Amino acid sequence: MFDWFSLSDTPVAAISEPDAIDLLKTDHDSVKELFDRFKKAGDRRSKARIANQAITALKIHTAIEEEIFYPAVRQRVGKDVMNEADEEHHVAKVLIRELEEMDGSGDHFDANFNVLAENVRHHIKEEERKMLPKAQDVDIDFVKLGQRMLRRREQLLTDGFPPVGARKKPARAKRAIA
Ligand SMILES: [Fe+2]
Repeated sequence: MFDWFSLSDTPVAAISEPDAIDLLKTDHDSVKELFDRFKKAGDRRSKARIANQAITALKIHTAIEEEIFYPAVRQRVGKDVMNEADEEHHVAKVLIRELEEMDGSGDHFDANFNVLAENVRHHIKEEERKMLPKAQDVDIDFVKLGQRMLRRREQLLTDGFPPVGARKKPARAKRAIA
């Protein structure tokens, strides 16, 4: 399984006190690296293994964002950007569900994974250019928010993930950490 707690590429400051935004950006970099490795992988087994790691990473990341980060910043960031992010998550979940059914093989497995990668790369760009700069203005403790996200990550790794594919009503905007 992908080692989510290996922070070897993370700057020292982020290791000592990762805030929510640092954590999301680290996740983004990790998943983009997996997409690159998938492209370069030569054999089917390696591709399937990398795809599996990316899917696990994306399931954790989307759950943490939807349950904790998005509700905390939704109001400040605004409906348009947040609704688009919700829809991009939805598309990613549909593709992930299909990939899981293919189980690493099948004629369209690589094509499906590459479309997922393109969708997620676009989503990451939008988050980093539009959402996160605005989110930074929210008057909350981002270190505490990050700690909540890390606890939830551990819990998901222990207890398993929520079912993928169901369209979830976005949580209402709220102040997660005063
Ligand atoms: Fe996201």
